Amino acid sequence: METGRAMSVALALRGIRKTFPGVVAVDGVDLDVRRGEIHALVGENGAGKSTLARIAFGELHADAGSVEAHGTVGLVHQHFELVGRLRVWQNVLLGREPRTGWRIDTRAARARVTHLAQRNGLSIDPDALVEDLPVGMRQRVELLRELERDPAVLLLDEPTAALAPGEIDAFFATIEQLAHNGTAVLVVTHKLNEVMEHAQRVTVMRHGKIVEQTQIARTSAREIAQAMVGGELPAIAQRAATVLAPCLSIRDLRTAGAAGLRGVDLDVRRGEIVGIAGVEGNGQSALADAIAGMITHAGTVAFASPHTTVGIVPQDRAREALVLGWSLVENVAFSRFQNARMHAGPFVNFANARTDAQTIAQRFDVRAATLDVPVATLSGGNQQKIVVGRALVDHPEFLLAYNPTRGIDVGAAALVQSRLVQARNDGAAILLISFELDEILALADRVLVLFNGSIAGAFDGASADRGELGRLMAGGA
Ligand SMILES: Nc1ncnc2c1ncn2[C@@H]1O[C@H](COP(=O)(O)OP(=O)(O)OP(=O)(O)O)[C@@H](O)[C@H]1O
Ligand SMILES: [Mg+2]
Repeated sequence: METGRAMSVALALRGIRKTFPGVVAVDGVDLDVRRGEIHALVGENGAGKSTLARIAFGELHADAGSVEAHGTVGLVHQHFELVGRLRVWQNVLLGREPRTGWRIDTRAARARVTHLAQRNGLSIDPDALVEDLPVGMRQRVELLRELERDPAVLLLDEPTAALAPGEIDAFFATIEQLAHNGTAVLVVTHKLNEVMEHAQRVTVMRHGKIVEQTQIARTSAREIAQAMVGGELPAIAQRAATVLAPCLSIRDLRTAGAAGLRGVDLDVRRGEIVGIAGVEGNGQSALADAIAGMITHAGTVAFASPHTTVGIVPQDRAREALVLGWSLVENVAFSRFQNARMHAGPFVNFANARTDAQTIAQRFDVRAATLDVPVATLSGGNQQKIVVGRALVDHPEFLLAYNPTRGIDVGAAALVQSRLVQARNDGAAILLISFELDEILALADRVLVLFNGSIAGAFDGASADRGELGRLMAGGA
C-alpha cells in the first residue's frame, strides 16, 4: 500500500549527463527516489552507478541536467573516505563534536557515537583507530557518519560489499527502519537477493542509461540480471579437478590478537580449491596475512618448495593491491619485481608490462578508456578485476583469493569464478577465503569452517550442507 507520504519525491534527477575523457559515464538519466522507499540501483561494473550517486550527493558536477533534493543528502561511498589516523568517534563526528566551551567534550562524543551505533545495531569500538580496522568495520564507520547527520535522502554505494552475512541482516534492519521513518534510500548493490528482499523498486543502468525500472513485486532476480548484462549470464566453468601433490601445508598456526588463529592445520593441494567459510573477524585476516608473510606467527606455513610461485588477491584492493594514481600498466609492472619479464637490464620492461596488462584487460573484461589512465578512474568492480587478473597472469602454483568477487557484477563474477576454476583445472592450488557462502559452495572442492580462530569443521565441497555450515559458522557445537 502506498501512502501519500511514501509517494512524495525526495530526490529528483533530471536529464543527468556526465562524461569523462573517453567515456560517457551517465547518459541522460531521470530518476526519482521517494520518501519512505528503498530503491535499488543496479548495473554492470562501469555502468555509471557511483558517478550518478556522487552527482546526486553534490560531489561531482553533471555536464547537463538537474538535481533537486528536499532536505540533506548523505552518501556512503563505495571507496571509504575516512581519516585513517583518527579514531572511530572522531571520524563519525568530524566537525560536529560536542564541546564544553572551546574544548571537545571527548566523553560526550564517545557516548554519542556508542549510542548511535547501538541504536542502529552496529557495534563498534569508538576508540579504535580507523586504519587498524578491517574493511567491514570501516564500512560501518562511514555509515555511522552519515546516520549522525540524519539525512532526508541516504545514498548507499555497495554498503554490504564488505559486510559478513549476519551483519547484512542487521544493516538492512537499520535501513528499513530509516525508510519506515520517511528517509528516501537509494542503495547500489550487486547482490540481487538483497534487491529482491529489501527494495520496493529497482532501476537498472547499462552503459550510463536506465534500461529498466520496475517494482520488485513485478520482477525476479533473473530478469534483473538479464537487464543488467543485456542477455544471458555466462555459465561457470565446470569442476574437472585432478588433485595432485600438496602445495601448501599449515600446521598449528597461531597468531596474536582477539581475531587471531588458535592452532590451525590445513593443506591445499595442487588442482583443488579449498574454501574457508566463516563470518568476518574469526581469523580470516590473520590466516591471509600469515600466508603472505606479513605477520609473525607460531607454527608452520610451508610451501612444497621454496620456489613455489604465489599469487595473492588481498582483502582490500585500495590499500594492499593497487596504487590508485598509477595506470594499469604501471600497477602490473611495479608489483612483479620478482618476475624476470618485468626487467630489461636495469630498467623496467614496460613493453612486457603493457602486453600483460592487455592480457589481463582482455581475459577479465576490464572496462577502461585506455591502459594508461590512473586506475582511480576505473569503476570499483573494474579495479577488482585487475587485482584478480594480475594475481593469475603469471599462472602461480598457489593462489590466495580473499573475497575475489567483492564489488563485481553478476556477469563479471561468473567470469572471474570461471577463471579461478580454470586455474584450478590447470593445476593451481587455491585457497579461497570468502564471506559469500554461495561462492564457496559453487567453487570449493573442500570447505573448512573457520570459527574463533580454529577450524570448526571440514566438508566435501560437492556434498556440504548449507544449514550445517551456517550452524558451525555461528559457533554451534
Ligand atoms: N574520475 C574519473 N575519471 C575518468 N573516468 C571515470 C572517473 N570516474 C568514473 N569514470 C568512468 O565512468 C564510468 C562509470 O563509472 P562508475 O564508477 O560510475 O561505475 P559503477 O556503475 O559504479 O561500477 P562498479 O559497479 O564497478 O562500481 C566508468 O567507465 C569509469 O571508468
Ligand atoms: Mg561503483
